[in-house]
Amino acid sequence: MTSSPSQAEAGCPLTPSTPGRRVEVPEALQRGRADADPARPRWHVTPPWGWLNDPNGLTVQPGPDGEPLVHLFYQHNSHAPVHDLIQWGHQYSADLVRWTDLPIALEPGPEGPDALGCWSGVIVDGPTDPTDPDGPTTPTMVYSGNMGGPTQVGCLAVPAVPPDEDPLLTRWVKDGANPVVDVAHVSVGQDLPEMRDHSVWREDGRWYQVMGSGIPGAGADGAQGGAALCFSSEDLRTWTYEGPLAVGDGDVSATGTVWECPELSTVPGDGGTADVLCVSAWHDGDTMRSMWMTGVRTGTRMTVTAQGCSDLGENYFYAPQSVTLPDGRRVTIGWMQLNGTQEQRIAAGWAGSMNVPRTVTLAADGTLRFAPIAEFETLRGDQVADLDGEAAAAVELRGRSLDVVLSGELGGDPVVIDLLASEDGSRRTRLMLSRRAPVGDAGQDAWTGWLSLDRTGSVEPGSPCEGEETRELSGPVPLGEDGGVELRILLDRSSLEVFVNGQPLSARVGSDPADERVVVHGAGLTRARLRAWTMDDAYGERLAAR
Ligand code: FRU
Repeated sequence: MTSSPSQAEAGCPLTPSTPGRRVEVPEALQRGRADADPARPRWHVTPPWGWLNDPNGLTVQPGPDGEPLVHLFYQHNSHAPVHDLIQWGHQYSADLVRWTDLPIALEPGPEGPDALGCWSGVIVDGPTDPTDPDGPTTPTMVYSGNMGGPTQVGCLAVPAVPPDEDPLLTRWVKDGANPVVDVAHVSVGQDLPEMRDHSVWREDGRWYQVMGSGIPGAGADGAQGGAALCFSSEDLRTWTYEGPLAVGDGDVSATGTVWECPELSTVPGDGGTADVLCVSAWHDGDTMRSMWMTGVRTGTRMTVTAQGCSDLGENYFYAPQSVTLPDGRRVTIGWMQLNGTQEQRIAAGWAGSMNVPRTVTLAADGTLRFAPIAEFETLRGDQVADLDGEAAAAVELRGRSLDVVLSGELGGDPVVIDLLASEDGSRRTRLMLSRRAPVGDAGQDAWTGWLSLDRTGSVEPGSPCEGEETRELSGPVPLGEDGGVELRILLDRSSLEVFVNGQPLSARVGSDPADERVVVHGAGLTRARLRAWTMDDAYGERLAAR
């Protein structure tokens, strides 16, 4: 099991027992610190200041000119970069690359079911008039209200004015009937250790949702298994418990004992389309990793036949949410967790970013593959390398904001790439791609490549930019025939995302702002080709502090 920079470890209990803010830093001070922080990513989604965790309410809606805009809401605390009394922050984008801040969309109530936080949820096009479920629709938030108990409750909010009068969807009003799903012992008829988060869909004229939970005794050998609990409804307001859609085995080194942020979606690809259940495995306050599962779904039950790890960086791609774009691509966005101590985050003025949006497809071997959305290429600035053969296999570049694509055929020797390296080489973040013997004949077990990231040499011990978390991250990656590989590195200051033939590894990396050498030792590659670009910033002016 991994130790993680989870909310609990950061001195931020997931469920504060008493209302009231624990830390308050003036917004202008936070914003000034965030703007000045050299570690803050410039083309990954970040909050304008303060705290960010899960993506929420990912939805495509017509903008002011009728063209589609993507709205991304997120778990946010504008009062300090700590997890506390969570609001829904809000940004929108026309291309999923360049984002604009909007005012906070949802705040905890002074009292009531979300007084201790508006936790994760989604937006669906729900009925404008609940008594006419098949009539006109309006964007409807389904989110978890935190009342401080062990299980959260389901709540709704809708635009305060019709969307054509406020097309950026900046004002929301909570439903007077909240909570629409009560605590577990009322809504499920059983006490459960955790219950929260929503994935909502409509099928055959009825609404369905899954909420994340864990069921004591339902895993292997009587363990507590993570669970996606299924509910159904006529109108999004009155919900009937249908039982678990799927339950995990409770392995604390893999599937966890609680599933957060379950999401059921349909993923397209060469191998046909598949129902995919994505869950974020959690155990005892530890946000472990995001996992995908495929199988056979019959209504409200799913038999899982294959599963995999969404990102070898484990909880650096957590609580993802996906959406289908108008052109049919399925795109997912995850939370790339923070690093460092609470003091370091307060000094930085911000904490947490999203991963780069990724297209998700189903490959012929039944695994999911992820790729940065193509629109990211529009952020490429100067091309700093375009090399072939031996020249591509032994290169030195410079930069802390780069898009690097290295392809070729991997032989017996590994490819080693040092990033964020100091002039004398004493500090470096080391990526290594090598071959491995497969451990099975299906799915990720059959893959023959191995990718690892070593952050132990990223900074000198005791440096002010040292991240507290430097565990090695590694795992299998698919190689093509003859070892064919395309390795893509997206480096954005402290945010690092690596894709090898569609399998990502993400991580946050602490480094000295002066360290910017990239050294490629690619002798293990034949037919090598290397291209690299600097990346432009994606944000214009950020939100003004109030
Ligand atoms: C996942 C999570 C969710 C919860 C939210 C609270 O990171 O713990 O389960 O709704 O974050 O911010």
